[in-house]
Amino acid sequence: MRTLTIRRPDDWHVHFRDGAVLKQVVPFTARQFGRAIVMPNLTPPVVTSAMAAAYRERIMAACPADANFTPLMTCYLTDGTEPEDLVAGHRDGIVTAAKLYPAHATTNSAFGVTSMERIEAVLGAMAEHGIPLLVHGELVRDDIDIFDREKAFIDAVLEPTLARFPRLKVVMEHITTADGAAFVRRHRPRVAATITPQHLIYNRNALFQGGIRPHMYCLPILKRETHRQALRAAATSGEGGFFLGTDTAPHLRHLKENACGCAGVFSAPVALQAYLRVFAEDDALDRFEAFASLNGPAFYGLPANEERITLVDRAAACEALAIPGEGEILPLFVGEEVGWSEIRRV
Ligand code: DOR
Ligand code: ZN
Repeated sequence: MRTLTIRRPDDWHVHFRDGAVLKQVVPFTARQFGRAIVMPNLTPPVVTSAMAAAYRERIMAACPADANFTPLMTCYLTDGTEPEDLVAGHRDGIVTAAKLYPAHATTNSAFGVTSMERIEAVLGAMAEHGIPLLVHGELVRDDIDIFDREKAFIDAVLEPTLARFPRLKVVMEHITTADGAAFVRRHRPRVAATITPQHLIYNRNALFQGGIRPHMYCLPILKRETHRQALRAAATSGEGGFFLGTDTAPHLRHLKENACGCAGVFSAPVALQAYLRVFAEDDALDRFEAFASLNGPAFYGLPANEERITLVDRAAACEALAIPGEGEILPLFVGEEVGWSEIRRV
């Protein structure tokens, strides 16, 4: 049976939610990863350092005792974010980065930033203090096709912002296009990107396979095959600009299978398995450690995890997750036998 021993990986983009869902989903991430960048789009959003500190406590309370897991917190930028609060939170080790949701671009983004001019002072402070800006890179307008939102955002927002703030560090979260990968390469090393498993495995046909597939719906939406191929090449290249970020985004089943279904793929239970499927298929297992365990910490200026794990290509069933009192959540690969399912701590 194939095995792979690597430094313990990190997940640089997760949604844990809150309450009953938080309690059920945190252990999946904590078992596989040493650290995770935690997204702040709760209701209400995590907009201050104090809210981030309180949220971190709730996450730690949901962590298995032996997990050795560290959540890295983010603040949700609004037009009213105070630079002083962000800088102090970063200095005190509470806040690792700030997340830019363009207003109305995705789930719980109604309080997001309405124009980059409104956050000039915040961006200046982030550049000065080395606080990374994490972006949801989609320009949402009625006259822009949903499949073109990423490129439109790069051209209209990101390029001018990088020119205006030459020292600002940026992670373009969940890139989905060849344009996103080219953008990262153009601006290395101060720009990097996370890539989700679903954008490596599926193209947009998966949304309509024999009928409409709400569990394949996420934002940014799945793209055409040429983009998927470009993302696979980027992820498996080992290049420092690309690293693991699942964007695991749990939603209750009845809210996905709905006349207006929520965006998000819940991948946490099969996160490493999904990426390993890709790297094994592309004969790139020797570059998995760079993508999963080394490139992310190097970008964030953190040490790689000391702990090692051995991944074993053993199949296991992927099942629905029950949320007591609320319903169930269907993970990516639900109902399938999934390889690379055994993790040994070395
Ligand atoms: O599909 C998505 N789900 N994309 C996002 O940007 C947000 C996320 C969520 O919070 O559900
Ligand atoms: Zn996300």
